[in-house]
Amino acid sequence: MKTAVWVVDPEQPDPQVMARAGSVIRGGGLVAFPTETVYGLGADALNTQAVRSIFAAKGRPQDNPLIVHVGAISDLDGVIGELTPMAEKLIPHFWPGPLTLVLPKDPAIPAEVTAGLDTVGVRMPAHPVALALLKAAGVSIAAPSANASGRPSPTSAAHVLADLDGRIEVIIDAGPCPLGLESTVLDVTGAYPVILRPGGVTAEDIEAVLGVEVQVAGEHNEVPRAPGMKYRHYAPRAELLLVTGTLGAVRQRIIELAQENQERRVVVLSRVDSAGDYPNLKVVPCGRRNDPDDVAAGLYAALRQCDGMGADLILAEGIEARGFGQAVMNRLRKAAKQTIRVGSEE
Ligand code: TXA
Ligand code: MG
Repeated sequence: MKTAVWVVDPEQPDPQVMARAGSVIRGGGLVAFPTETVYGLGADALNTQAVRSIFAAKGRPQDNPLIVHVGAISDLDGVIGELTPMAEKLIPHFWPGPLTLVLPKDPAIPAEVTAGLDTVGVRMPAHPVALALLKAAGVSIAAPSANASGRPSPTSAAHVLADLDGRIEVIIDAGPCPLGLESTVLDVTGAYPVILRPGGVTAEDIEAVLGVEVQVAGEHNEVPRAPGMKYRHYAPRAELLLVTGTLGAVRQRIIELAQENQERRVVVLSRVDSAGDYPNLKVVPCGRRNDPDDVAAGLYAALRQCDGMGADLILAEGIEARGFGQAVMNRLRKAAKQTIRVGSEE
């Protein structure tokens, strides 16, 4: 299969291009498209064959459910069974946007989409191109991140092409994704809300709307609740060591680790501000210090860049786990073989 790349303006995508992409989806094909978080790999959510081909193209385990994307609240009919009271409160605040709600599923959604669960993850993306594609397709779109399974999520069309060239029909290229990390996945089917995957919408944001405490799955080391969270995710090819703590102590420990591993191809994943702190080492700077949004936006591209440099050991500076920094640290911890704390706690 030849993969076509169609370039569009991120704010005002060409309606003719979007109409063609919509008909590829309706015809059962796969279209990679930008969202505000990461690029998704979309198929008609009601077409079982098309959904199966998503798993095949990515090499994704069958037991990891997909998120269904909708373009309007009315499109929830036929996707979810019912809106829970928590979902009713959250949707006006956070949709369209980076919040996936886990809700009871409608029987019409194929078991392949939800990996046999009786719930479905659903979100309304905010990116104009994603919304235009949903409108042009006229169907709900099941879409995981458009990476090969196990690789960092793609935040540019070039990342998608690197992983899936020849395996999918179309990539819509609208430049880099503004947020750079996947949506928050929130289970709102129970007595209290549970974050299954941290993202752009934080626990504090959700608590402010619901007025109840939000649990974060995995904080107490229980069995993973989002099936996807049990897989080694977000991973570069190289081994990654994450170093957290006070500024000076982190720098010193990274320099020590580099010296202890001189026979390996070491790359330091630093902040822009600290890129000059590692003389004689290869450095990939990612985001400004004290700007978690900036770090998030560049993180996956930086991990892919480390791989591209042939790194076999990445020494990564941690950031403060506040705001979007929580999601950044969640992804770095998952990518890391080990997290090393030095100096006092951040
Ligand atoms: O930002 C995003 O969410 C991107 C864009 C494309 O929308 N999508 C994305 O999809 O990251 P994916 O498939 O890479 O991650 C979906 C996550 C997985 O961890 C999966 O296990 C979880 O959501 N999930 C999906 N449906 C679920 C369900 N019914 N119950 C629990 N977890 C679910
Ligand atoms: Mg993914």
